[in-house]
Amino acid sequence: MDLKSLKEEISKRINTDDLQKINEIKTEYLGKKGSITELSKKMKELSNEEKKEFGKKLNELKKAANDMFENKRKEIEQALLNKKLASEKIDITLPSRKTVRGSKHPLSRVQEELEDLFVSLGYDVYEGPEIESDENCFQRLNLPSGHPARDSQDTFYLENEEDKYLLRTQTSTAQVHAMLENENKEPMRIVCPGKTYRRDDDATHSHQFMQFEGLVIGEDISLANLKATLELFSKKLLGEKTEIRFRPSYFPFTEPSVEVDVTCFKCHGKGCNLCKESGWIEVLGAGIVHPNVLRMNGYDPEKYTGFAFGPGLDRFAMFKYGITDIRYLYGNDIRFLKQFDRKDDINEIKS
Ligand code: DAH
Repeated sequence: MDLKSLKEEISKRINTDDLQKINEIKTEYLGKKGSITELSKKMKELSNEEKKEFGKKLNELKKAANDMFENKRKEIEQALLNKKLASEKIDITLPSRKTVRGSKHPLSRVQEELEDLFVSLGYDVYEGPEIESDENCFQRLNLPSGHPARDSQDTFYLENEEDKYLLRTQTSTAQVHAMLENENKEPMRIVCPGKTYRRDDDATHSHQFMQFEGLVIGEDISLANLKATLELFSKKLLGEKTEIRFRPSYFPFTEPSVEVDVTCFKCHGKGCNLCKESGWIEVLGAGIVHPNVLRMNGYDPEKYTGFAFGPGLDRFAMFKYGITDIRYLYGNDIRFLKQFDRKDDINEIKS
């Protein structure tokens, strides 16, 4: 076949929009065993004169063939791109989709309100880690291994009980960090908000919940100071008419220990379904820091005393906003969360 008709043949055959086919045809002519490549092997049969002439033509053909394939490839690719662009065309004049907006979470509201109060009283906000050692979560809080009070805090261990790492069951562990970190063992006032974890799950208990620990260390700190502080706390959160009472209790890290009740903010002490007709609602545990705890964390119990308290924030948020199941707080359901948009003013409940 002469070179001219080869060129014509190629131009006819590449009349396709299939890129793969183009590549195959290209190989048929220009590949290692392609028909144009084979032609150059014929050169050696020719005379010098003929070689010159034929070589020139052959080179021209190679270049022309290459150009044809290349142009066709570009043409197909451009067509594909145009098609894609056309199908992906967006109408920028369309109104955007509405994003669903929640509102500040009720737990954050309660936490921020309390932080504001305590910062105004000269406290620092201190956050400890959520992954804890057994030593910090229990031992340094006067709860040696085997202590029966450990049973009331059903713990998530990260590996097994022997490995001694766990998710903190109480923000009281932040007390330990704060005391150990205080190099000169100076007096301090801190509140420690944060997540805590226990193996619990029902309408009033969640495996994850929030606490708001308080710790004051100084000279001559007494139960009276604790009571005055908690009274302020309760009035701020639940309304000015709120009163508090202490009942004797037991916590390993405090001595004496108290359970704190507030007057029911629904019936103001008369008795109703919320307070189970008693007029009082139990809200937190507190006490005077046990000398062992001070000593174990570097403070001299002869010189210093302190008080500590540890309410759960979930309970307060539930009271405050009338939430009946703790699991709503962690369900991330927008229908629930949207309701708190206008709940900054809770005077309805307070009055
Ligand atoms: N950590 C206790 C708990 O989770 C609550 C508590 C009680 C904290 C008494 C305190 C305290 O700081 O003094 O049950």
